[in-house]
Amino acid sequence: MPAIIFAVLALAVAGVGIGFAAGHYTNRTTTITTTSAAPAVPATTAQQAVSVSPTVAAGAHTFVQFACAQCHGVQGRGGVSPYVPALSTIKTSLTEAQLEHIINHGLGESANPTKPYMPVWGEVISKTQVHDLVAYIRAGLPAVADTQPVSVPAGQGDPVAGAALYVKYGCINCHGPNGLGGVPNPLSPDKTIPVLSGQGFRQQFNTDAKIAAVIRSGSVIGKAPIVSMPHWGGILTPVQIAELIAYLKTLK
Ligand code: HEC
Ligand code: HEC
Repeated sequence: MPAIIFAVLALAVAGVGIGFAAGHYTNRTTTITTTSAAPAVPATTAQQAVSVSPTVAAGAHTFVQFACAQCHGVQGRGGVSPYVPALSTIKTSLTEAQLEHIINHGLGESANPTKPYMPVWGEVISKTQVHDLVAYIRAGLPAVADTQPVSVPAGQGDPVAGAALYVKYGCINCHGPNGLGGVPNPLSPDKTIPVLSGQGFRQQFNTDAKIAAVIRSGSVIGKAPIVSMPHWGGILTPVQIAELIAYLKTLK
């Protein structure tokens, strides 16, 4: 009998201890569960179903929304282009301030149309989202549930595929839904990122070749924090660029 009482008492004490530790150390964790549904992960780094903080989870969503994943690979594992580094090994080798600076200001431009560069994001990604991205990168870019990019429908024609690519590659974040614009670029001559629809656009970009050229090679309209057109050559295939153009041509 005394032994049982002792055991119950010990459990109760342990319970208090665990409760305290949980409240004390994990107030920024749990709430969001992650999946281990990443097929290309080598066995050694395979993810357990771990919990991440809401900040890290938000960063994972922003990473997909702004197409970081389309250049740096799923979970920043690289493999998209030899010019785009993996981010999965950064963790603490770059400080928070360095990461914030790289995201806000980019890393300089390249004139070679097949060599992509890190774009300037400062005017298009909010401070909170940049903070979330930094937390996500420093957490090692874990797998987070429901962060798959939109899938691109096959067999439904180029404009349909192009509309999905417009979201998947983050064009929508800078050029607005349906290419209607409205995204500020305060220090640029136009003060805004251009629309991709309407008469002005159609007159200036009156051939597929002209549209393809700007998608492939981007533009450099000034130094950061001015946002330039990122350069998608070496990231988007010629077929994907043709699909995007077919979509843009459906916009009134
Ligand atoms: C159009 C392709 C592209 C996109 C989109 C892109 N990056 Fe990059 N990023 C690059 C390239 C290329 C580099 C290598 C530096 C360079 O040559 O400019 C780079 C470098 C970086 C670095 C520095 C890596 C290191 O090891 O020093 C970080 C951090 C980074 N990118 C984060 C991001 C984040 C976060 C996003 C999404 C908001 C993003 N990138 C979107 C192409 C891209
Ligand atoms: C980081 C923001 C950003 C993203 C993402 C982006 N663009 Fe742009 N884009 C710009 C800016 C800024 C310009 C204006 C460049 C200039 O004036 O030289 C531009 C120009 C263009 C133009 C030429 C229009 C004009 O009037 O100059 C086309 C076409 C275009 N982008 C298509 C795309 C497509 C397709 C995507 C997705 C694959 C995309 N953009 C993603 C910022 C962006």
